Amino acid sequence: MAHNQLCHRKAIETAAHAVEQSLELSPADPHRPAYHVSPPVNWMNDPNGLIYYQGEYHLFYQYNPFSEQWGHIHWAHCTSKDLIHWEQLPIALAPSEDYDKDGCFSGSAVEHEGRLYVFYTGNVFTTPAGLPDDLLQQQCLAVSENGVDFHKYGRNPVIAAPPAHVGQTNHFRDPKVWSHGGKWYMVLGARNHHLGKVLLYQSDNLLEWGFKSVITESDGKAGYMYECPDLFSLDGKDFLLLCPEGMEGEGQIAGYYSGVLDYSTGAYEHGDFYKLDDGFDFYAPQTMLDADGRRLMFGWMPMDGKSLGKTWAGCMTIPRELVHEGNGRLRIRPLQELKQLRKRHHSFRDYLVTEGEFHTFPKVEGDCLEMLVQFDLQRSSAREIGIQVRSSFDGQENTVLKVNTTDGKVIFDRTCSGRGPGGIKECSLRAEIENMLRLHIFIDRSTVELFVNDGDHVMSGLVFPDPESVGIRFFSKDGTAYIHDLQFWTL
Ligand code: FRU
Repeated sequence: MAHNQLCHRKAIETAAHAVEQSLELSPADPHRPAYHVSPPVNWMNDPNGLIYYQGEYHLFYQYNPFSEQWGHIHWAHCTSKDLIHWEQLPIALAPSEDYDKDGCFSGSAVEHEGRLYVFYTGNVFTTPAGLPDDLLQQQCLAVSENGVDFHKYGRNPVIAAPPAHVGQTNHFRDPKVWSHGGKWYMVLGARNHHLGKVLLYQSDNLLEWGFKSVITESDGKAGYMYECPDLFSLDGKDFLLLCPEGMEGEGQIAGYYSGVLDYSTGAYEHGDFYKLDDGFDFYAPQTMLDADGRRLMFGWMPMDGKSLGKTWAGCMTIPRELVHEGNGRLRIRPLQELKQLRKRHHSFRDYLVTEGEFHTFPKVEGDCLEMLVQFDLQRSSAREIGIQVRSSFDGQENTVLKVNTTDGKVIFDRTCSGRGPGGIKECSLRAEIENMLRLHIFIDRSTVELFVNDGDHVMSGLVFPDPESVGIRFFSKDGTAYIHDLQFWTL
């Protein structure tokens, strides 16, 4: 076995050993998601390398096997036959070479001649202090014959540096690769003089890459760095997902442009930037094509495991399907296959919630559930219509999901959600709702994901309430709220 393969194998064994040891010290935790992908123990961030390969879905993720905080980034690996039930596999990539010794950062996967090619960013700290800008980031390749064991390419890095006029070697990462018209393409997140950029590269053979163009760049207001780009075409448009850091008025957010990529010139004409999720905890999403040609997305729900006293940190969102409405806007929907998880079912119809009451329905409660509620706005007079989930018996602890019918704001309020960072997030309904307001909610112990009006908006957030806080209470303010239909399942 080649020397670099031996080093890599050893690094994976060391990581596996650390995970085993951490697991022994890791108690069962009522906040640990049951049906979301989360690490067995320790830190997780971005989804990586999503692909359908040899009859299975592969989901890799950024993983620190040694701690519940970010660092020593490896690629953890899990697979699924149905996108819902996932099995953890051995760690796929570990830092083991000079060019990736401080982390195998985010990247993507493609299949070529039956093999699985994964592209990732080799990260190196260039000073002992390891400050956020003291980095050398290069694009690397690892190949697998069986989808489990990965060999790092002997001539890594495949891209050592961006052209100096468009990028810097310290912030140059997150390769997403795809094929188009018989060639391979890659988008990369980059930064130059405090302006975020997405760079396009092209290759004939996946090994040699040539810089093609800057497909989009920040004007200063749109952020100083763009992370985790993803480009794909969907029903006539080329969508570019990206995560700008430092966008005016925002922290770290994930969103998209829709436009047209001219593959011959590398020019990308695009429209406005839209968020992919209006909640608290959603970052670094990646998409893939499934076996039926649907465009699916997973995002990362970040979590500060240490301050919460947890031995694990973070999870993926539920799988979401992206649907192009035809006007350059995406609808984001929970994957149909999630229906497999449904257990006990209860449904109710035609109920008027009056002001001042917190209405509950028999057996509609829990911490692992799906609920689809349709409010008939024509039969409602309330200014505010909402649901408290994860509510304690006395109602003191609760997470509020509500809609203001006069200004069209959708609000996710976790001020009283228990432990965790709290806060309020809101977004505006895309159009005035004349009739039905549809709220589709998924809860999994510490996750809350709200889909509004068939995927117009999604709001995701983590909450850490008392495990006993499982109540669901409907309320209205300044008038009545008419529940046309309520479907509830335990999951
Ligand atoms: C996004 C990110 C990526 C990077 C990775 C490192 O969350 O910062 O840009 O590759 O995380 O773990």
